[in-house]
Amino acid sequence: MTRIDSTPAPASATEAITVHAASAVEGSWWRDAVIYQVYPRSFADSNGDGVGDLPGVTAHLDHLVELGVDALWLSPFYRSPQKDAGYDVADYRDVDPLFGTLEDFDVLLEAAHARGVRVVVDLVPNHTSDQHVWFQAALAAEEGSPERGRYLFRDGRGAGGEEPPNNWQSIFGGPAWTRTTRADGTPGQWYLHLFDSSQPDLDWSNPEVRSEFEDVLRFWLDRGVDGFRVDVAHGMVKADGLPDWDGHVAMVDGTETPDADGTEAVNGSGNSGPMFDQDGVHEIYRAWRRILDEYEGDRAMVAEAWVEPLSRLARYVRPDEMHQAFNFSFLVAGWDAARLRGVVESSFRANDAVGAPTTWVLSNHDVVRHASRLGLAEPENRPNGLFATDPQPDAELGLRRARAASLLMLGLPGSSYVYQGEELGLPEHTTLEDVVRQDPAFFRTGGAEAGRDGCRIPMPWAVDAPAYGFSPDGAAWLPQPASYAAHAADVERATPGSTFDLYRTALRVRKAEALGTGDLAWLGVFADDPHVVALRNRDVVVLANLGDAPVALPPGAEVLVASGELTDDAGATAVPSDTAVWYRA
Ligand code: GLC
Repeated sequence: MTRIDSTPAPASATEAITVHAASAVEGSWWRDAVIYQVYPRSFADSNGDGVGDLPGVTAHLDHLVELGVDALWLSPFYRSPQKDAGYDVADYRDVDPLFGTLEDFDVLLEAAHARGVRVVVDLVPNHTSDQHVWFQAALAAEEGSPERGRYLFRDGRGAGGEEPPNNWQSIFGGPAWTRTTRADGTPGQWYLHLFDSSQPDLDWSNPEVRSEFEDVLRFWLDRGVDGFRVDVAHGMVKADGLPDWDGHVAMVDGTETPDADGTEAVNGSGNSGPMFDQDGVHEIYRAWRRILDEYEGDRAMVAEAWVEPLSRLARYVRPDEMHQAFNFSFLVAGWDAARLRGVVESSFRANDAVGAPTTWVLSNHDVVRHASRLGLAEPENRPNGLFATDPQPDAELGLRRARAASLLMLGLPGSSYVYQGEELGLPEHTTLEDVVRQDPAFFRTGGAEAGRDGCRIPMPWAVDAPAYGFSPDGAAWLPQPASYAAHAADVERATPGSTFDLYRTALRVRKAEALGTGDLAWLGVFADDPHVVALRNRDVVVLANLGDAPVALPPGAEVLVASGELTDDAGATAVPSDTAVWYRA
């Protein structure tokens, strides 16, 4: 094993540095599952209204089967005024007509199960829509009434109550409080919304709120879902008295700082303050876990919790709580070998301590797609969307790195999440016109942040069809960039070496080699290398070259899959810059 530059191999060249032992726990599908996120409004539109729907998902299930994923997670499809693309739920027990009907859901579930694909649904418990019957009843009810007690209504500060009850800011920008108007037209109390004003926060100290959501869980478990992705899982319990906070609610900027005892890197992926990660939240998940455990079939929950450091996040996946939590520290680690290794190690240290599998994720519906993010001048930066006037990502470099990053991710033990379209190498839409934007973050920041629309563009299914086959008639709720033609699924499925082909091959090998339940040891020769991440998982070496100099494979290495063309260097197979490979030595 040599690097093709002048760096001498350290004495420990042949040593392997063990980080994680192979999983001894058998039979829990979620421990090593590859879970595909379907964002229904952008997946496939069956009825021509320009918005994807549940029958559209059913129609494309074979794409997921061919890809080789174990499960799909559906972002919200419930009744909703769609002020935050469905994360504002008006009825937790019904499908929005935009997406179809409950019968359509049952058909999808059955069709997925018939293909051996599990289905995870999204649960949004931190807030409801302002159109939910509870909130409408609260607005109509007296101050101090039980109806108001399901939410966080408070009197304002100042003589006439004209100041918000505290200084919290919404994650989407602007104050986290909106003032109500009484029936007689005079200004009334304020209500809390950590997100848009159309998303009032529930009061989780109210037992009625708890029992309602336990009932919602049962509703979907009875229908046969395999699990839940829990939205804003770190936000439901707020500190007593809702104290002022001088920090910033918005996600921090990705700078790396050591934690208090200096042993664990934090990566700026966390939300902090009196509205997040309060100890009381764990009791809710213990109660939910007891409900899931009553059901047959190994149902699972995954926390969306922007919490750090990772040891703190691991509290959500203790044996009697959730099964998984998204590992956003990996997502924000950028394209930096030392930082990636640091996150991998911290992840295993924290999760192994509680016996939970680690998850890995690079893209979702809230962040700039990694095929574009990794092509930015500073890939560890995580802008909330991009404007056409911003410095644009290098598309070719971004895709090259994205493919390498994905191959690295899929070679790690644990469970991986794949966001729809990343298997096609889709870039972010970075030149959307402001008139088509829909993300409340764009509006609430007065247009200062582009928001998340650019990662939510409708999928390209067929290169020669209107809207690239997204809808029967070419309608699409957001326009697709011309660059999507080259990524259309029909082309990629048929093209050896395409990004789809890479994912398909990687998932097949991952399964055959049982990498998801494997072990992890750093290859000693690269353990401190600033440009190479190299690990052994069972019999497979996973090596990503993030530097400029090619890295030679050992003689006789059997390459299983590579994210790009390998080169020949004086008779040795070499991994060029921004490329990853799996091989058996
Ligand atoms: C989560 C969702 C995001 C949504 C927010 C409010 O972060 O992933 O899309 O806007 O919660 O529900």
